[in-house]
Amino acid sequence: SQRKQIDEILASFELSKENLIEVKNKMRGELEYGLKKETHATATVKMLPTYVCGTPDGTEKGKFLALDLGGTNFRVLLVKIRSGRRKSVRMYNKIFAIPLEIMQGTGEELFDHIVQCIAEFLEYMGIKGARLPLGFTFSFPCRQASIDKGALVEWTKGFKATDCEGEDVVDMLREAIKRRNEFDLDIVAVVNDTVGTMMTCGYEDPNCEIGFIAGTGSNVCYMEEMKNIEIMEVTEGKMCINTEWGGFGDNGCIDSIRTKYDKEVDEGSLNPGKQRYEKMTSGMYLGEIVRQILIDLTKHGLLFRGQISESLRTRGIFETKFLSHIESDRLALLQVRRILQQLGLDSTCDDSIIVKEVCGAVSKRAAQLCGAGLAAIVEKKRENSNLEHLKITVGVDGTLYKLHPHFSGILRETVKEMAPQCDVTFMLSEDGSGKGAALITAVAKRLHNVGE
Ligand code: BG6
Ligand code: GLC
Repeated sequence: SQRKQIDEILASFELSKENLIEVKNKMRGELEYGLKKETHATATVKMLPTYVCGTPDGTEKGKFLALDLGGTNFRVLLVKIRSGRRKSVRMYNKIFAIPLEIMQGTGEELFDHIVQCIAEFLEYMGIKGARLPLGFTFSFPCRQASIDKGALVEWTKGFKATDCEGEDVVDMLREAIKRRNEFDLDIVAVVNDTVGTMMTCGYEDPNCEIGFIAGTGSNVCYMEEMKNIEIMEVTEGKMCINTEWGGFGDNGCIDSIRTKYDKEVDEGSLNPGKQRYEKMTSGMYLGEIVRQILIDLTKHGLLFRGQISESLRTRGIFETKFLSHIESDRLALLQVRRILQQLGLDSTCDDSIIVKEVCGAVSKRAAQLCGAGLAAIVEKKRENSNLEHLKITVGVDGTLYKLHPHFSGILRETVKEMAPQCDVTFMLSEDGSGKGAALITAVAKRLHNVGE
């Protein structure tokens, strides 16, 4: 029957406890490959050293600029940090658009655009002559050789500007500032958004040693023992590792749980074959998975009276905010129909029930997969510290985590089930990673000045 066909499709998104344990164990294996000298360069989970060696201690202070590129919004920020007993952080920020043709144009155009936005911000704040230190949150994989150097490994998510991969993003920014020849900045740090998020939360809670993003993309960073990071010479202390776990599965190790819809989404993306785990777990792709399922259901005459509309054929129509809306429990089915109508999808009442079920299956799997991945991370940290029981805080940010009605709950449940010896607190980073970038810049600046 029709219902049976629908149930079969939904069932292909269900993960058993065994599946989840397997994901956790495989993730753990890939984390280890990324840390080992012989396998680091080819690991799918890249485990990139960040040169951030501690969380904030409250002595950070000063006035900083921060850039935040790679999430839903591109922002320029001015961050004022006060230290001591009355420590505080004040921020002023402006959001700028990055048009698609710039995200996917040339690298020079992209960085010229960024510098144009900085210029407008400095003008707007009236601080053009100030030559402030700047922290650059750049939410893509970078191979760093120091806190202020980072070669872009490859673009992910919706970016594809030419002539950037393999290049140092700080150099590209400096050159664009030079080309404009209007103001000068002291670029002190390049920071992944996971790291910025961890630092922001670490400012309030010293137990925060993990940063997690569930947004446009999906990624985690955590504080690792130096001695476990084989490519680093130093063996004392800790360093934050940007795992880039979005690439988990790029060697085929989770193909058994990928569906044909996942493969279609991958093939239609800007980076086929790459970031397979990210494509099952993050905001930029969940809507696309839903769309592929709806197309299939419609082809089989199980939805939309068998008519594939122009909208349904349009890539990217189901943004995270729509999924989050459709799945909201307070929403009556009539309202679901209204949302679908807005998206150009004429639905019956039955259609809207099915669409909601499809969204639920896709987002539940995403939350469970992230939960199994996080379980691998907290378990590793627990073993690192030789503890029977570990208490740890995870700093979190991202539209999927913040907007979706069920994602965070399922995530938490899964972590609890998969890592019963860890007591994990999730702490929302309200002000994004700009603040974290400024904190890192403050520390880097202090250490640098001491060294001089
Ligand atoms: C923001 C950070 O708060 O969260 C960004 O400041 C980050 O740097 C983002 O990329 C992740 O969420 P999203 O959903 O905007 O990709
Ligand atoms: C992508 C990027 C990663 C970033 C994540 C969240 O996975 O590669 O660097 O942290 O998205 O924005």
